[in-house]
Amino acid sequence: MMKLLLLGPLLFVSVWVHTAIAMESHEPHHHVSTLMMKVQRQLEAVQTLQESIKKKLEEVHAVQSNSHTTQQAACVGNTYSLDTQSSFVMKDEIVTMNNGHSIRMDDILYGYDWVFESRRLFSVGSWLGVQSQQDPADLVVIQQLLWDIKPKVIYDIGTNVGGSAIIFAHIMSQYAKPGEAIIVSVDPKHYSINWDDAAKQLCPKCTAVDENPLWNDYVQFVQARSVEPQAIAALEAAIAKYGGPVIISVDGWHDYPEVYEECVTFAKYVTVGSYMIVQDTKLDRIFNKPGPRQAVYDCLVNNTNFVIDKSREVFLYSQHTDGFLLRVR
Ligand SMILES: C[S@@+](CC[C@H](N)C(=O)[O-])C[C@H]1O[C@@H](n2cnc3c(N)ncnc32)[C@H](O)[C@@H]1O
Ligand SMILES: *[C@@H]1O[C@H](CO)[C@@H](O)[C@H](O)[C@H]1NC(C)=O
Repeated sequence: MMKLLLLGPLLFVSVWVHTAIAMESHEPHHHVSTLMMKVQRQLEAVQTLQESIKKKLEEVHAVQSNSHTTQQAACVGNTYSLDTQSSFVMKDEIVTMNNGHSIRMDDILYGYDWVFESRRLFSVGSWLGVQSQQDPADLVVIQQLLWDIKPKVIYDIGTNVGGSAIIFAHIMSQYAKPGEAIIVSVDPKHYSINWDDAAKQLCPKCTAVDENPLWNDYVQFVQARSVEPQAIAALEAAIAKYGGPVIISVDGWHDYPEVYEECVTFAKYVTVGSYMIVQDTKLDRIFNKPGPRQAVYDCLVNNTNFVIDKSREVFLYSQHTDGFLLRVR
């Protein structure tokens, strides 16, 4: 591309220079310097053109390499180190392959976290046509959990475009009729807008959640932050109307203070034998700072009614390791 773009101007200049030299032999002396100045100017023009092509190419490369990254994927280009706090089940097991490679289970599992974030895989998935940011392995686990518990109320923190809500509603529709159970889904942003601008491109066939009857039958959307009074009022009204079991899904703002506050605030609404699911505990490691996972640990210090249920991490890989919190009393 660059070569083709440059070839035109270069050919032009080279013909020009040859013509100028050919002419020089027949022209008086004072014309030579004028010609040389003209050639000089043409060369400068070509150089400018060359610079602008180079700049354009750099821009194209930048766009290409950015298309798989995001603010959520600060991991790209960094190397990751052994995490002594790794919370993967069987993390220390060594997998030996017949090509001589030995890989720690932790590397395999965390390696996929890395791939998932850096390749923006959180925006490629959908459920019944609705873009969903649930990781496939955890999605099956959450389905198993919902089927076991059969909650009457789910507090879905972080609606985005309704992905988790439509999944929960779909499962709910298999054990409860509309009006018997509900999902209160909260997000300060409207569900018609995806926080990830690239999602449209990454899931071209995705459709709006409110085109699905499950949304109207099972979901109450509250446009607010999870801990705002109108959101909490909606949760309490739902519990008063539908009873339990109650499940809390924490998938809103994934920074430590927000998750800690949500965990502490909503622990009391979870019914005994049911769960709070704190999503994306993997982010502590990816961003190398206290995040959802640390928030869980700190939250449980004073909420001794909960235990971390590792038995939910059946696929070993989970983005919510230590995030399946079972209320035991
Ligand atoms: C990871 S996305 C949720 C994905 C969604 N649960 C799904 O499975 O497709 C996080 C969402 O949380 C929302 N959010 C941010 N702060 C919040 C808060 N304080 N309370 C509730 N939601 C919040 C963001 O606007 C964003 O849409
Ligand atoms: C536990 O509760 C005590 C008393 O309210 C408080 O001072 C402390 O910070 C809490 N600990 C954690 C880790 O949240």
